[in-house]
Amino acid sequence: MESSCDETAAAVLCSERGLLSNIVASQDDAHAPFGGVVPEIAARAHMGIIDSVIDRAVSEAGVGYADISAVAATSGPGLIGGVITGLLAAKGLASALDVPLLAVNHLEGHALSPRIEAECPFPYLLLLVSGGHSQLIAVHGLGDYERLGSTIDDAAGEAFDKTAKVMGLGFPGGPQVERWAMEGDDKAVRLPRPLLDRDSCDFSFAGLKTAVARAYDASDKSDAAKQDLAASFQTALADCLTDRTARAMQRFGARYEERRFVIAGGVAANKTLRARLIETADAHGFTPIFPPLKFCGDNAAMIARAGLERFEAGLHSPLSAPARPRWPLDAEAAASAPKSGSGRRGPKS
Ligand code: KG4
Ligand code: ZN
Repeated sequence: MESSCDETAAAVLCSERGLLSNIVASQDDAHAPFGGVVPEIAARAHMGIIDSVIDRAVSEAGVGYADISAVAATSGPGLIGGVITGLLAAKGLASALDVPLLAVNHLEGHALSPRIEAECPFPYLLLLVSGGHSQLIAVHGLGDYERLGSTIDDAAGEAFDKTAKVMGLGFPGGPQVERWAMEGDDKAVRLPRPLLDRDSCDFSFAGLKTAVARAYDASDKSDAAKQDLAASFQTALADCLTDRTARAMQRFGARYEERRFVIAGGVAANKTLRARLIETADAHGFTPIFPPLKFCGDNAAMIARAGLERFEAGLHSPLSAPARPRWPLDAEAAASAPKSGSGRRGPKS
């Protein structure tokens, strides 16, 4: 089960037969009037449909509840009302069926998403870009993650969403900005590329967002102006992501012979960004691996995959497992203070 943001999702994964079902119910329509995810609305919407989403996942899989040998659910990080809803449903199901519970870190789900239906052996370099997160992670093995860099303010998807909101393009913003950018000139508006001169793999998108708002205010707000600004923003963001990724590739490449590069998260759907990242991977001798789009955005198949790997490793969770609004993936970050605050779409670092 996955319910940490605005998708209510359930999937059934079999260790021998693979993914048997993958249901994702989006709440986009409920949040669209607000131009962003409203936590209270999200929690109530999860509560209203989680049972039927689970039922659909089990019946579409062609199995019965008695065939289920473990239940995995996102237990953080994310919007706490949603996380609690999914985790409690999972706890109820696990105790009713008398099977183990697997409390999964949502970020681990994204990190293992290339392994749902394809071969993607450890280790690999992961760029996770979603509405709540922007991180570069060295995935050494199950439960062994090293954060090479992350956003110090907004996530990449958040920057797309806010850019769309400023120009009134609709929600979620990423696909809209991409559509408008197709007709625009990406050199028309000069925008900053924050942190590019720093010797780190960290990102910053807050300054870019402010610059977009200023540029839009100063424009004539015509369709052509929106197209040019969308294109200029998308290229600026791609410049930042590819520059940081190139640095992370150098660090990862100095350590490992195997050079696989995975991009996950909702922003991975962006075609311009994909093309730029493929170029970056080629230049650094990395093989790019893009999980199918249905596994890039939030989904329960990735939580099931992380759950299966944990189940097979005997890493069961107690029924008392807490719901955690913040939960860094790597041990080092978990032990230190967060780099940034918590936004509407959840923790940012
Ligand atoms: O991974 P995801 O489904 O949910 C989170 O965990 O946040 O990512 C959603 C984010 C949103 O910010 C959305 O605007 C962005 O992914 N997104 C895109 C595109 N499709 C979705 N951003 C850029 N280009 C796209 N085509
Ligand atoms: Zn996510």
